[in-house]
Amino acid sequence: MGGGRKRRRRDGSEAPSIHPRNRYAAAAPDFAMLASLYPSFAPFVSVSRGGRASIDFTDFAATRELTRVLLLHDHGVNWWIPDGQLCPTVPNRSNYIHWIEDLLSSDLIPPTSSSNRTVRGFDIGTGANCIYPLLGASLLGWSFVGSDVTDVALEWAKKNVESNPQLSDLIEIRNANKMSCSSEFEAVVGQAVRENTLEPVDGVVRSKPSILFGVVKDNESFDFCMCNPPFFESIEEAGLNPKTSCGGTAEEMVCPGGEQAFITRIIEDSVSLKNSFRWFTSMVGRKANLKLLVPKVHEAGASVVKTTEFVQGQTARWGLAWSFIAPSKMIIRSNTPGKANRSFMLHGLRREYGAFQVLKSAETFFHASNLLCKTNSSLFSIDITLSDEQAQAAMLHDEYGSVEGNSTKLHSGVTGASFRISVFEQMPGTLLVRGSLLNKELSGIFSSTFSQLEDTLKMEFLSKAR
Ligand SMILES: C[S@@+](CC[C@H](N)C(=O)[O-])C[C@H]1O[C@@H](n2cnc3c(N)ncnc32)[C@H](O)[C@@H]1O
Repeated sequence: MGGGRKRRRRDGSEAPSIHPRNRYAAAAPDFAMLASLYPSFAPFVSVSRGGRASIDFTDFAATRELTRVLLLHDHGVNWWIPDGQLCPTVPNRSNYIHWIEDLLSSDLIPPTSSSNRTVRGFDIGTGANCIYPLLGASLLGWSFVGSDVTDVALEWAKKNVESNPQLSDLIEIRNANKMSCSSEFEAVVGQAVRENTLEPVDGVVRSKPSILFGVVKDNESFDFCMCNPPFFESIEEAGLNPKTSCGGTAEEMVCPGGEQAFITRIIEDSVSLKNSFRWFTSMVGRKANLKLLVPKVHEAGASVVKTTEFVQGQTARWGLAWSFIAPSKMIIRSNTPGKANRSFMLHGLRREYGAFQVLKSAETFFHASNLLCKTNSSLFSIDITLSDEQAQAAMLHDEYGSVEGNSTKLHSGVTGASFRISVFEQMPGTLLVRGSLLNKELSGIFSSTFSQLEDTLKMEFLSKAR
């Protein structure tokens, strides 16, 4: 999930590659061909002596015109933004859309409704460019609510939708400053006013603009939310990438506390809206922030957390996704070949993190995954037991790949603990985590759960190690 074949970086780590379904995965945009078709693009294209056509990516007018022709030529979308507004790069933004498509189609988190309705997304901070709704609707037929708070973003996002009558029924632009007054929201605001944490001014409560809570209406449900957050704490920090000019005003790029604060607010809102979304997602601009946000999502009680790295030219970006819905099918439908024992090492741990902390964190992970577990603190081990229902479903999918017709045959096969996790101190700062399969009929779920545990513990403890 989250990228095609991997390249290696100089330091040996895997670099992400363009998503295999990205329309530019096989071939980058052909500037010469686009210049011959679109006279307004031609002045921005120069051809080297070797015959290579390129544009000056430090020229805002050139990058905006490139985005305009790519959206028109490859997506049939009419599009424009005023000078200086953030100009999206179409191939990069498409990778995020395809990652969400992967999350939805993996069935990791089952659809909340059984109907075959159109996929419905919520784009937090859609911007004047409204890029994610336009891409999601034109590529995949998804419908969107796109929210924003600035007049220019709301005005231009609406213009971009209205310029595309073929998509306009699929996209609603919503002002996040005009929060809907759901009963739950009113209750929360009322309490905040009583506790003097919010100031009513002329009958209007002034606070930070809402992100999801109060903007999502009562009884609305979405398959996902997505967000390219304001990454920076100050416009100075935003700086300028001398190699490209993609515009971006302070309102678009900056918020108090930067992306960490913004995404933390999404995580807080997600707790109140846990049943309104299958997946909550956000882009993250800095790996250090991703490492801080993953534990926050776990602490919020998410049942599943996923991360990915996006290919994004010279700049690395990450995707963070989480859900509060029980991951029945992720656990159930695993074709991973099963080994009876698996293990991984945690190297370079800080002195205060030993086997006990890792054991506790593993316990939290199993609780969040709705798995029954029994911890033995003196042996540093946890026995995980599946409920009858979980075991039955896991076996059905592992053995037969289908849930039809086999329930009675399989029901009695699983009793007692299914697998055991043990933590061993190897030397100061190094722990070995071993998983042992106790019931071989559950090898698929053992394998997939152990892989997730590995990701979670590495993310949590190896980030703390630095
Ligand atoms: C980095 S821009 C992203 C624009 C566009 N989605 C893109 O990917 O190019 C962040 C956007 O978030 C908006 N924003 C800031 N606070 C917000 C809030 N509380 N609710 C919704 N949008 C907000 C900004 O106005 C800005 O348009």
